[in-house]
Amino acid sequence: MSDSVSIESVLTENRVFEPPSGFSESVGGAYIKSLDEYHALHKRSIDDPEGFWGEIAAEFDWFEPWSKVMEWNLPDAKWFVGGRTNLCHNCLDRQVNAGHGDDVAMIWEGEPYSLSLEGEGRGEGAPPGNGGTPEVRNLTYHDLLTETCKFANVLKSCGVKKGDVVTLYMGMVPELAIAMLACARIGAPHSVIFGGFSSQAIVDRVVDASSKVIVTCDGGWRRGSVVPLKDNVDAACAKTDMVKSVIVLKRCHNDVQWTDGRDHWWHEVVASASEECSCESMDSEDMLFLLYTSGSTGKPKGIMHTTGGYMVYTYLTSKYVFNLVPDRDQVFWCTADIGWVTGHSYIVYGLLPNRVPTLMYEGAPNFPDAARFWDIVERHKVTQFYTAPTAIRAFMKWGDEHPRKHDLSSLKVLGTVGEPINPEAWMWYHKVIGNEKCPIVDTWWQTETGGHMITPLPGATPTVPGSCTLPFFGIDAAVVNENGEEMPVNTGGLLVIRKPWPAMLRGIFGDRERFIETYFSRVEGMYLAGDSARRDERGYFWIMGRIDDVINVAGHRLGTMEIESALVSHESVVEAAVVGMPHEIKGTAIAAFCTLDPGHSTGDVAQLETLKQTLRTHVAKEIGAIAKPDMIRFTDALPKTRSGKIMRRLLRSIASGDTDPNQDTTTLEDFSVLAKLRESEEG
Ligand code: WT7
Repeated sequence: MSDSVSIESVLTENRVFEPPSGFSESVGGAYIKSLDEYHALHKRSIDDPEGFWGEIAAEFDWFEPWSKVMEWNLPDAKWFVGGRTNLCHNCLDRQVNAGHGDDVAMIWEGEPYSLSLEGEGRGEGAPPGNGGTPEVRNLTYHDLLTETCKFANVLKSCGVKKGDVVTLYMGMVPELAIAMLACARIGAPHSVIFGGFSSQAIVDRVVDASSKVIVTCDGGWRRGSVVPLKDNVDAACAKTDMVKSVIVLKRCHNDVQWTDGRDHWWHEVVASASEECSCESMDSEDMLFLLYTSGSTGKPKGIMHTTGGYMVYTYLTSKYVFNLVPDRDQVFWCTADIGWVTGHSYIVYGLLPNRVPTLMYEGAPNFPDAARFWDIVERHKVTQFYTAPTAIRAFMKWGDEHPRKHDLSSLKVLGTVGEPINPEAWMWYHKVIGNEKCPIVDTWWQTETGGHMITPLPGATPTVPGSCTLPFFGIDAAVVNENGEEMPVNTGGLLVIRKPWPAMLRGIFGDRERFIETYFSRVEGMYLAGDSARRDERGYFWIMGRIDDVINVAGHRLGTMEIESALVSHESVVEAAVVGMPHEIKGTAIAAFCTLDPGHSTGDVAQLETLKQTLRTHVAKEIGAIAKPDMIRFTDALPKTRSGKIMRRLLRSIASGDTDPNQDTTTLEDFSVLAKLRESEEG
C-alpha cells in the first residue's frame, strides 16, 4: 500500500457545521431535511435498490419500459434492462412538450468584455458586444431543441450513424452543449477532448475511438488570448488519416487554414439543415459517451458511460446535492470545463432534466480581473455555485477584496470537487463566499462514477471541513484492506464501492482486460476507486489521496507515466521519473527527474536551464499545458531498487523538500550515494 496511507496523516478537525437555519426556506424546501431522513432513505436505497431507482427512473420518458431495474454480473452492471429512451429527448423535448419551451435552459457568458463581433457564426438575436458588458446568451429549451436538431442533421449529413464516435474539441461555448445533445439525439457517442490538450492528445483519442468527425472552433478565448483550436486539429489530422470531416464554429475570428472537402463552417452547414430530427430510440445500455482519463500506464483510458443509468443518476444527484427546485429563480453555475466529467454531468446532462438554468462561462476566473467570478454571481444571481479547491485557493491568494466588492447574497449552496479541500480553504469559502449561510457540499466522485458518490446533502448533513461526509443514495462505500475487510475507525485503507450504481462506468473502450485489472482485481468483488481513505467516528469519509501512479494537479488527473513518456520522447532525455510534490495553489505540482543523453548533459548552467524550458514546452506540446513539470531536475542516474524499480518515495521526499521550485538552481543530482543508502530499505 502507498505510503500516503498512514495514521500520521489523520488531521484533527473538530469543527462541525450544521445546515444553516433558514436554509430550507431559502431554497424552496430542502428535499432531505435531517440526518435521520438521510439515513432512512439511504438504508432503503441499499436494501431495495430496484424499488428506489425504479421510482426515480419513472419520472423520465421511456419509449419502451424496462423489464428489470438492475442486473449485476460482476463486473458488468446493467440498469433498466430492456428499456429504451433518449437522453436528449429527456433534456429538451420533454421540457418543451410539458409547456416549458420558453423557460431559460442555459445562460452563457463569453469571456471578452468589449468585443465587437458581428455577423457570421453568431446565434441570431445575440446582443452585439459593446464596451463594458460581456456577451450573454440566454437559450430556452426551445432554442436548444431547434439548434440541436439542426446540428444532428448536419452530423447525419457527414455520415455519422448510431454508434459512431464524434470528437468534440471546442471552447466553452453553447454550441459544445448543442453538439453533445445532437450526438445523444442520434445515438452517436461523443468524445469531448479538453480544449487545453495538445494535438497529440487529439490523435491518441481519435485513433483509439476510430472517430471520423471532429467538431471544433476557430479558436477559444482564454484570458484575453486566442487558443488556436483549429490549428491543433489540423496538426492532429496531419498525423492520422482517420478524420474525414471537421466542422468549425467561428468564435474568435482568428485566421485558420482550410482543407476543402474536409472542413466545413458550422454556420454554413447549419444554415441549410432541417429543424426536424427525431430521436434515436436507445437501449438503456447503449453508449452515451466516451471520456478519456489518465491511468497509471501511459495510454489514456476511454471511460464508457451508457444511457439510462447515467441519465437517472446525474439527474438525482444534481437535484439532491444542490437542492435544485424549478420555478424558484434558481441559477446553477458549475465552473468546470465540459472537457471534464464534471462539466458533462453538472453543466449539461444532470441539469437540463431538473429544469433549473445552467450557467456556462467561457473563460478564465481572472479576466479582466480577479473579481470576474463574483461579478458573474452578482449579475446572474447565481444560487448554487460549484467549483474546485484549486480555484478556491487561488481566490484566497488574490485577496478578499474581490469577492467583497460584489453582492453574493443570492448564493444558497456552495460545492467543491476534484481533490481534497484543505480546511483552511473550506473555511475561507464558508466565510468569504458563503457569508456563513451556505452549506458546502464537498463531493467525492470520479470520471468512472459518472456522478457524486460521497457528499453532504445541504439541508441534512452536518459538515466538517475537509471531509466529503457520507455516501449518496444507493452507494455502498467502504474503506477496506486487500481482503475486503473494513478498516477500524480512522485507519487508512482502500476506498471501494461494494454494489453497482446506475452511472458506473461500463468499461474502458476497447480494453476489457484493463477494465477488470484496474477496477475489479485488487479487492475481490468490489469496485476499487484508486483512492485511499479513512472513516472517522461519525462514519464520515476522508479522502487521503491516490494509491496508483496518478497525480491530481489542480483537480485534474494526470498519469505520471504519460508525462514520463512525453519527456522521454524528447531527444535529450534517456529516462524520466515524475512524482507529485505539494503546491500551495494547485494542491500537487509536477516534479520530473531526468537523465540526459550524453550529447546533451554537458553544458553550463544556462544551457541546462534552457533545456529545462525546452522540455517543459515539449510536454505542453505532447500532452497539454496542465502537464508541464513545475520542477525539472537532471541526474546522472535515477535511484532504483535492486529489482530496478524507481524509488519514487525517495524522489517524492526530495521534491517536497523544495519550498519554492522556482528557486531551484540544482542542475545535477547525484543519487548514487542516496540510492545505495536506501537500497536495503526498499529492496
Ligand atoms: C479523482 C477523480 C469527479 C470530477 C473531478 C475529477 C479526486 C475528486 C474529490 C473530493 C477528494 C477528490 C479523487 C478521485 N477527487 N473529488 N471531493 N475530495 N478527492 O475527476 O479526473 O476522474 O478524478 O479526483 O482522487 O479519485 P477525475
